[in-house]
Amino acid sequence: MTVRRIVQYPDPILKQKANPVIKFDKRLHKLLDDLNETMIAAHGVGLAAPQIAILKRVFVVNIGTTLHEVVNPTITAQSGWQTDPPEGCLSIPHLSGVVRRANIIKVAYQDRHGQPVQIEAEGYLARAFQHEIDHLDGILFIDRTERVITRIKEEENE
Ligand code: CO
Repeated sequence: MTVRRIVQYPDPILKQKANPVIKFDKRLHKLLDDLNETMIAAHGVGLAAPQIAILKRVFVVNIGTTLHEVVNPTITAQSGWQTDPPEGCLSIPHLSGVVRRANIIKVAYQDRHGQPVQIEAEGYLARAFQHEIDHLDGILFIDRTERVITRIKEEENE
């Protein structure tokens, strides 16, 4: 596994649409491992492949004790709304923003072996999934935010 450099805003790669994964091979497994290691090193809760300059529909989310390795996700249902807490992004340090997201979502995706997975996520986990799925479509939280907040230095390592 390798800690990769995280692409920083306004790098244009962050605005590009990522491509579906077709091969569930060693390269994909290394990508998932690198995303996980890079996310941990950066103290993040999620990281999408475009953030390490790989335009594939892949991300990881680690909230609580569960690591979700997500390939080719689709939101199949959503309900309710949430606006807290403000969102940040490892590609946009020093800023966070209030973003309105669905409160409950159902997501269909594939695991690292290509097996279909369905998850129902609520609250913060649902927010993280929506944030990372946006990355696969070249959308950043600052494109959706109602209010940008400048973060103070002490909060950087959250
Ligand atoms: Co992000």
